[in-house]
Amino acid sequence: MKQLVINGGNKLTGEIKISGAKNSVVALIPAAILSDEEVTLYNVPDISDTRALIDIIELLNGKVEYKDEVMKIDNKELENKVIPEELSKKLRASYYFMGALLAKYKYAEIYFPGGCNIGARPIDFHIKGFEKLGAKVEIEGNKYIFKADKLKGAKIYLDFASVGATINIMLAAVKAEGVTEISNAAKEPEIVNIATLLNNMGAKISGAGTSEIKIIGVDHLGKGVIDVIPDRIEAGTYAIAGALMGKDLVLKGIIEEHLEALISKLKEMGIDLNIDHNKIKITRPEKLKSINVKTLVFPGFPTDLGQPMTVLLTQADGVSIFEETIWENRMGHIKYLQKMGANIRLNDKTAIVMGPTDLKGEEVVATDLRAGAAMVVAGLSASGTTIINDIEHILRGYENIVEKLTAVGADIKIIEK
Ligand code: EPU
Repeated sequence: MKQLVINGGNKLTGEIKISGAKNSVVALIPAAILSDEEVTLYNVPDISDTRALIDIIELLNGKVEYKDEVMKIDNKELENKVIPEELSKKLRASYYFMGALLAKYKYAEIYFPGGCNIGARPIDFHIKGFEKLGAKVEIEGNKYIFKADKLKGAKIYLDFASVGATINIMLAAVKAEGVTEISNAAKEPEIVNIATLLNNMGAKISGAGTSEIKIIGVDHLGKGVIDVIPDRIEAGTYAIAGALMGKDLVLKGIIEEHLEALISKLKEMGIDLNIDHNKIKITRPEKLKSINVKTLVFPGFPTDLGQPMTVLLTQADGVSIFEETIWENRMGHIKYLQKMGANIRLNDKTAIVMGPTDLKGEEVVATDLRAGAAMVVAGLSASGTTIINDIEHILRGYENIVEKLTAVGADIKIIEK
């Protein structure tokens, strides 16, 4: 069993290069199988989710070359196969093979996806979308079976601007006959990244990044090339670490517009931020002001940064209110923050944080990926030693986290227990 051990209290100084976005690459890899030729992805983060998706492509007889952040996926010998439970369960995003295989072969068999336990996580919007395009969906035990004689463009309204449903429907619709319109589509930057790759392969998608996406079906998708966008959640996590412990901590390779909600909240707290092109420099001020934060769909405050943000709120002067609105179960980290000395009252999906309180190192658990990120950030700012269990959640989403933080002065290591 692996544990992360952090001796807290060190100032963070120097530069961290932000990796490619997990939530983009996990859709770009399945999207690549829609090409009949070779697809090249640049800036691919080496995280366990990436490795799990390579296993799926190889199961389908695709050829993957992955070195120095460049991934080439060759589909010339691709075959449609059942995606078994041991692969589908490794991550949530295995479900993007539903849309991709359905578009390519009009047939897909895939076991239920995995992912963090942060809520019920139904996929009814994905399924309704596939059905609107003409697919039949059956559930056999723990497996979905999708089939269609042909897929036909349709008007699809999403009850909620779901990231996963928007991408999966886009994947299923790129080769459908006629025009598909997705209304109330999600607007996250990752969606633009996926649409850009698909268009580069020959798809006709417009409106990605807005709530109305239009897809004109095409017969063939060919070669494609894309840069994975920088991970706004990784950047945000390290920005929060910088707000707690930074002394001229520089994050390199960010896209400012993707971080606007966080930047505006950090400024409201009185944090000294210096943004220059794709770099952001952060130093902790003497005092942090309390604020209220509510998670929303993009461009609102991202749910994936809510957990690390609550750690920062424990150091603010006064009462801060944090409200989660996307997931039902994203407060798994709170009891561990309380164990470390935080004064937080939890009321369902709202955390009332009274600060500032000193945090002390403790043995804690990464109950999910971003809860784990919160524990890392807490451990960096706490006095004494923090030991984090269940760190495989963290390694699913943060590339070289130990190396990156060590390089800026943190005392952090992984041990085998
Ligand atoms: N929802 C439904 N039915 C559906 C789909 C979604 O009810 O068919 C609900 C969900 O239960 C949730 C809300 O809609 O309450 C939003 O879900 P969404 O589909 O937008 O989330 P997702 O695509 O499953 C992605 C990210 C999450 C991130 C959310 C919101 C990936 C692989 N995951 O999930 O990232 O929190 O969007 O931005 O892209 C993470 O990185 O830690 C993470 C959980």
